[in-house]
Amino acid sequence: MANESSKGQKMWGGRFAAQPSDIMQSINASIDVDKRMVREDIAGSRAHADMLAEQEIITEADNEAIQGGLDQIVEEVEAGTFPYRVELEDIHMNVEARLKELIGEPAGRLHTARSRNDQVVTDFRLWTRGALTEARRSLKALQRALVQRADEHADAVMPGFTHLQTAQPVTLGHHLLAYVEMIERDRSRMDDCARRLNESPLGSAALAGTGFAIDRDATAEALGFYRPMANSLDAVSARDFALEALSALSIAATHLSRLAEEIVLWTSAQFAFAKLSDAWSTGSSIMPQKRNPDAAELIRAKASLITGQFAALQGAVKALPLAYAKDLQDDKQLTFAAFDTFSLCAASMAGMMETITFNRENMRAAAAKGFSTATDLADWLVRELKMPFRDAHHVTGSLVAKAEEKGCDLPELSLEDMQAVEPRLTNDVFSVLTVEASAMSRQSYGGTSPVRVAEQVEQWTQRLG
Ligand code: ARG
Repeated sequence: MANESSKGQKMWGGRFAAQPSDIMQSINASIDVDKRMVREDIAGSRAHADMLAEQEIITEADNEAIQGGLDQIVEEVEAGTFPYRVELEDIHMNVEARLKELIGEPAGRLHTARSRNDQVVTDFRLWTRGALTEARRSLKALQRALVQRADEHADAVMPGFTHLQTAQPVTLGHHLLAYVEMIERDRSRMDDCARRLNESPLGSAALAGTGFAIDRDATAEALGFYRPMANSLDAVSARDFALEALSALSIAATHLSRLAEEIVLWTSAQFAFAKLSDAWSTGSSIMPQKRNPDAAELIRAKASLITGQFAALQGAVKALPLAYAKDLQDDKQLTFAAFDTFSLCAASMAGMMETITFNRENMRAAAAKGFSTATDLADWLVRELKMPFRDAHHVTGSLVAKAEEKGCDLPELSLEDMQAVEPRLTNDVFSVLTVEASAMSRQSYGGTSPVRVAEQVEQWTQRLG
């Protein structure tokens, strides 16, 4: 049972004779989640109060009292002594109630020309803007680690796969830089989102704007927004900025998950391409030989959680008529959780990539299996014998079948065996059948050749600073 003091007069209690039930209070309160926006909430209140004073809607003395009280609240927050109270529902009423305790009457003037509806979404936009900056920074650290590994292994040959079947030799540097490219697009999506969300809802009040002569440009500028949002109904009810942020996180997490899957494969005894450092491996309580890639596996799973958070928020928003509805309160727990999960995943992947080691011999040996240079043979027939590619493809297929029959790889076939299929083949063909020659030859822009990889490494190193 809640005691009397926890059921004191509600800020909105004027029209009510009885208190809400305890369960009503539990489903309604969001303070445990939205207290994370306390700094943003105070920043919003400071900007609003300054503007109210500037517009002579409140007195300068009231503003001074409010700012002084907010200073004190900041100190309490930093010291960990701020009293968050569940019966005050959310962060907005917690801050205002504390302000009232600290400064008395002027606190009651702060909410002039403002509603929790524009207040909460102002806080939330500010919070999301900061979180996107953090997410972009964590991805950059991962990109740096990937570029360093790519630099070390620009010329390390490994099997390139399609359908997870050996396709053609590629270089590890090229493979790792593919993720650097993906992650750069992820970062750019987050940047777009941060720019699009950077408009101020503050001053939209409950939904229709206000009759007070407020200056929305001033509060927008004080909070680092580009401009005030142009439609108050849109401003208080729009959550597409959060959806966009979560979709960007979800896509980025999907990329982390793909890389995580590669780590799981590469570190298996069957592939044995890579080894995670001790700091990023875990043991088994029963099998002493095990080095498990748990962090990679968890990234794979957590990517789905983030995608789920996106879907949950979209579900919450999609059937809401304008303007604000309480459903929107749950936007924050989904968004905070998604950002928390994402930052853990990005930092873990960076940690793994900073310390992973690769076994170049094993990768090279694997690259030589599975007739990986068959395309090079076909290309030789096209170049040297002027064969149409389709015919060359057919001839090479017969050569592969012959090697398979003999239980050997393509370069191990004798010239006689080869000439039995195509008499114009010469010894020269063997020079294109090694995995190094194959990788080296793919010098087209964006190709896997070590020279192209080195160029890309150079560019990325400069770009990432
Ligand atoms: N805690 C609320 C939220 O997060 C603040 C806005 C409440 N507005 C209202 N009219 N009840 O959405």
